[in-house]
Amino acid sequence: MEHDAIGLASEVAHGGEARVRGDAALRALERPFLALDRALGRVLPDALNPFLQTGAVAVTAILIAVISGVLLLFWYRPSVHLAYSSVAAMSDSPASAGLLRSLHRYSSDAAIFFALVHAARLFFERRFAGARWLAWVTGVLSLVVVWVLGWTGYWLVWDVRGKYVALETARLLDVLPIFADPMGRSFLFDEGINSLLFFVVFFFHMLAPLALAFVLWLHLTRTARARFLTRLPMTIWVLGTLAILSVAYPATNAEPAKMTARGESFGMDWWYLFPLSLGPGLSGGAIWAICLVGGALAVSAPWTMRKRVGRSAVVEPARCNACEQCYRDCPYEAISMIPRANPVKREKYATEAFVDPAKCVSCGICVASCNSIGTDLPGFPLRDQRQQVASWLDAAKSGGDPSGVAFVCAQSAGAGLEIDPATGICRELPGWRVLEVPCAGWVHSMSIELALRRGAKKVLIASCPPGSCHFREGPEFLDQHLAGTRPPAIREKFVARDSVEVVYLDRGSKRELLKAAGAALEGASPSPAAVPGRALAGIASVAVAFVTSAIIGVVSDWGHAAHASPGAELVVTFKHPGERSEVCRDRTPEELAQLPQHMRQAKVCERARAAVRLRVSVDGERRVDQAYSPSGIWSDGSSVAVVPFGLTPGEHVIRVEIGDSHDPDEWSHVSEQTIEFDERFRRVIAFDRASGFKLH
Ligand code: HEM
Ligand code: SF4
Ligand code: SF4
Repeated sequence: MEHDAIGLASEVAHGGEARVRGDAALRALERPFLALDRALGRVLPDALNPFLQTGAVAVTAILIAVISGVLLLFWYRPSVHLAYSSVAAMSDSPASAGLLRSLHRYSSDAAIFFALVHAARLFFERRFAGARWLAWVTGVLSLVVVWVLGWTGYWLVWDVRGKYVALETARLLDVLPIFADPMGRSFLFDEGINSLLFFVVFFFHMLAPLALAFVLWLHLTRTARARFLTRLPMTIWVLGTLAILSVAYPATNAEPAKMTARGESFGMDWWYLFPLSLGPGLSGGAIWAICLVGGALAVSAPWTMRKRVGRSAVVEPARCNACEQCYRDCPYEAISMIPRANPVKREKYATEAFVDPAKCVSCGICVASCNSIGTDLPGFPLRDQRQQVASWLDAAKSGGDPSGVAFVCAQSAGAGLEIDPATGICRELPGWRVLEVPCAGWVHSMSIELALRRGAKKVLIASCPPGSCHFREGPEFLDQHLAGTRPPAIREKFVARDSVEVVYLDRGSKRELLKAAGAALEGASPSPAAVPGRALAGIASVAVAFVTSAIIGVVSDWGHAAHASPGAELVVTFKHPGERSEVCRDRTPEELAQLPQHMRQAKVCERARAAVRLRVSVDGERRVDQAYSPSGIWSDGSSVAVVPFGLTPGEHVIRVEIGDSHDPDEWSHVSEQTIEFDERFRRVIAFDRASGFKLH
């Protein structure tokens, strides 16, 4: 029974926020982040903690990547023949082009690293359901665009890494029915590489940042006062960290791309190139399936993981005097001022506040914004809660034991306190009547005043630390109400400043909360969090920079060998049209009878293109004997073949026969040659009508 009541208190305190499945597991996964915040909070001011502003750090990293990328255009040559040497030449000027290139590489890595940490944090904090769905979905999209930018960027160096990026792209795109001529055919040997395709990739890499800007704009459209750029100290930290990493460990080139070499080793940037490690074990189709299913799961999380639909705040128009404070304060742009519906009141106030339920996350911050209690959370009505607190205080006073009132944010250290919702008594907080609230930003100045006027010994507010508020801005706004800088402000004539204590503690700091509550009742102010000294902050900042850049740098250049079966390889390929001929036959009497009178020609002729037949023998042994149908929807295009097979290194006699007529015994193009094969190299016999057989 007691447990039911406790459960109810918690449910009510969440106001109407959308709830998600797997709450307990997600809270457990959130713990390491909270521990990291606590550890860094002891030595670093929030302004210098990158893990409290991961979204903004990701934006700064993206901007550094874009600016350094534009500057690199002074040195880079976007041509498949010149790209490698132009990038390699950058290392000759380590103070300019070399540094810029490394900065470009590491800022791109930092962008994906911080975007991943950002996404993980928000997921574990359960900040993705309800009205946040748009930020979540566009977040997933922005991650994809950032990844595509990095993937195409590696292509542009045209070293071994670029080659495998191109090969893997071709492998994936060739699964789709896009190209009549498989893209993989362009990458069999150096002379066959399509320069235009290289330029298209370059162009794509240049344009994708525009798509990213658009997606990020959408990402932040529902976020008021989004901190999308780091402030100066953090910007200096990001730039400094990346610059030092660039100098200490400059970005390297792999060997130049040689298409006939196989199975080379290279330093791989796992942030972007991880698909290369999947190797031939997973077919192109399987990779598409994994991406589609994974993408659908990620994008649909706000709906599939939602346990309860949120209940948005509401405005009572009769109480609204159009002061616009809630409209200014809402952290999620959910409130707008609309023309007043009531024609009588309209004469005095032309507008009234309106909450868009689709954008509201039910934080309750607007409740504390309204001097006239015009905004409210239907699941957690302010006036009822105030009545409740007043009745607790009256009961405590009449029992001769006046108590304090603690408003504890359901996301902070106060989460999970065992509170009796009928009396506000909590065994863990003796001497206090406790109200669990959706956010510290919900606590109204007048609620504090009322509590003190009704005899509360003290008011304690347990809030999340400002940098990790579940609703972004609750702690700051609470501070400003208390300091008198944000209306409605606490009135000093009713409230002695030392009668209100605010403690900023995350959900992992319950012990500290209990200690602070005990101290507050005894009249001692909870010891304020020690502000880290400059020297300590400096050292900690360098240490965080070192660890972060070590993670980014090591993952960015971890060795990998492309998979290749041992031995040598021969590929025979052609794109060749079969003979086109008219095949005629007589119609049967039945066929003729079915046709209208004027269409009854006795002979019917169809134009057909012959399939192209291929026979390959190695040292006299037949290895391939296959016909390749014409391509195209009308089966009228060229036939295309790419036939790889493994060979032992050494000399082999290779005979290739191609037949392109309707006569199965006619082999119009024949080549026989002795070819030397090397271990881990490929030879290619390519045939086309213009040049005949060519060995590469
Ligand atoms: C390219 C990468 C990304 C950048 C630059 C970025 C940037 C940002 C920024 C600056 C904010 C506002 C923070 C604030 O002022 O409170 C934000 C919020 C948010 N981001 Fe991202 N983000 C990125 C990727 C992602 C990803 C991959 C996800 C999840 C899949 C995600 C989910 C969210 C959500 C749900 C919010 C809203 C949180 C809330 O308001 O409670 N973001 N992002
Ligand atoms: S704060 Fe209150 S009075 Fe002001 S606009 Fe909002 S609902 Fe109306
Ligand atoms: S401030 Fe009010 S309207 Fe805005 S998200 Fe929070 S509860 Fe909804």
